[in-house]
Amino acid sequence: MPGIVVVGAQWGDEGKGKATDQLGDRVDYCVRYSGGNNAGHTIVVNGERYALHLLPSGILNPRCVPVIGNGVVVDLDVLFEEIDGLAARGVDASGLMVSANAHVITSYHQVIDKVSERFLGKNRIGTTGRGVGPAYSDKVNRIGIRVQDLLDESILRDKVGAALEQKNYLLVKVYNRRAMDPEQVADHLLSHVERLAPHIVDVSRVLNKAMDAGEVVLFEGAQAHHLDVDHGTYPYVTSSNPVAAGACVGTGVGPTRIDRVVGIAKAYTTRVGEGPMPTELLDADGERLRTDGAEFGTTTGRPRRCGWFDALVVETAAKANAFTDIFLTKLDILTGWESIPVCVGYEVGGVRHDTMPISQADFARAVPIYEELDGWEEDISDCRSFDDLPKNTQAYVNRLEELCGARISGIGVGPSREQSILIHDLL
Ligand code: GDP
Ligand code: IMO
Ligand code: MG
Repeated sequence: MPGIVVVGAQWGDEGKGKATDQLGDRVDYCVRYSGGNNAGHTIVVNGERYALHLLPSGILNPRCVPVIGNGVVVDLDVLFEEIDGLAARGVDASGLMVSANAHVITSYHQVIDKVSERFLGKNRIGTTGRGVGPAYSDKVNRIGIRVQDLLDESILRDKVGAALEQKNYLLVKVYNRRAMDPEQVADHLLSHVERLAPHIVDVSRVLNKAMDAGEVVLFEGAQAHHLDVDHGTYPYVTSSNPVAAGACVGTGVGPTRIDRVVGIAKAYTTRVGEGPMPTELLDADGERLRTDGAEFGTTTGRPRRCGWFDALVVETAAKANAFTDIFLTKLDILTGWESIPVCVGYEVGGVRHDTMPISQADFARAVPIYEELDGWEEDISDCRSFDDLPKNTQAYVNRLEELCGARISGIGVGPSREQSILIHDLL
């Protein structure tokens, strides 16, 4: 079973980091394939909390080689800060591999991310402000800076100069900001070269060779299906392809090598930033979910929007990503509710929908149709098998499985590595 993808089934922050870490001791390579340091993956090991933004969660497992694929956009300041932060805590990242084809996030991408959001006003996306969108725009626009460009100073200076010629026009004429100095930007990027160079590899070749030898490669998704630029709630999405297929594009591994796709779904729904979310609760119930679930962004600290589980959202992701399994997280947070609503359909302009409507306009005004499931009072955080769970909790899980159309193979009952229930082996 060499190729396994972990992918978010909702709008991010489902607990992908924890699920990835969980599989770590049986994984040889752990690879980030999309996104950048807009991600925030939290892992709790022996009471120690780690928040990773750019490094794959497998880094916490000594046997696992951490890899950053070509589909990732890399902020080198953040990368080395993260490596140093981990080193100070005894975690060794010296084996990190970085694709020569990955694009880098520069200071002008960060500036443009922030000013363009301000410019959009009420139409803003609510980005993380990390420069991720502008870096991907440059990639598609063929004016991006790649990791390999740093290895040749004159190429790098040319490319930064050419990109900034356009950007400075935009910054000065449209956004009324100061122009940025290409020499300064290039100097800063070059300051990382000595440290970065030993990590640069041909990721596609490395991973394919490993898989030929029967080694296990875990592709760790960032963001989620509904934040995907092609499949998500556009334009309220990120600028990359977090979907499982993105693992192939973002690393150079063919689709026939993916054996398993594990969708990570939270037992309720959260979202950060703007965009439609039919089950969002703007009342005391939403506040209770936020407090109980500590739903504040790992990256920006923003309060996450909270609501009930939306089966249509997860079912859509299950189909489009061909989930072989679902890992249902944060089930423990739902303890203490007398009954728990689950969204099983939408009403849009008097018409019932049993799957997500094809138009974004309809999705934005969808009114959830709820089914009420019985809640439970028992603390489940020490449960380690499905049979340990109260009957109502089991019924909740079984109903979600039925509605989402993929088997639930794992359940999270707390943030720590050991607070999980494994129903079916994931590897
Ligand atoms: P990611 O971006 O998908 O990796 O998720 P985040 O790390 O941003 O957010 C998930 C949060 O929930 C983190 O604080 C995790 O430590 C925590 N978490 C993950 N799984 C569980 C679980 O099963 N129960 C509880 N209570 N917390 C969990
Ligand atoms: P993880 O991997 C939740 C959201 C932002 C914003 C939109 C676009 O931790 O699940 P961007 O900065 O990417 O251009 O912002 O996407 N977003 C996330 N929301 N979890 C994430 O990552 C996210 N990464 C981006 O809030 O709405
Ligand atoms: Mg997160």
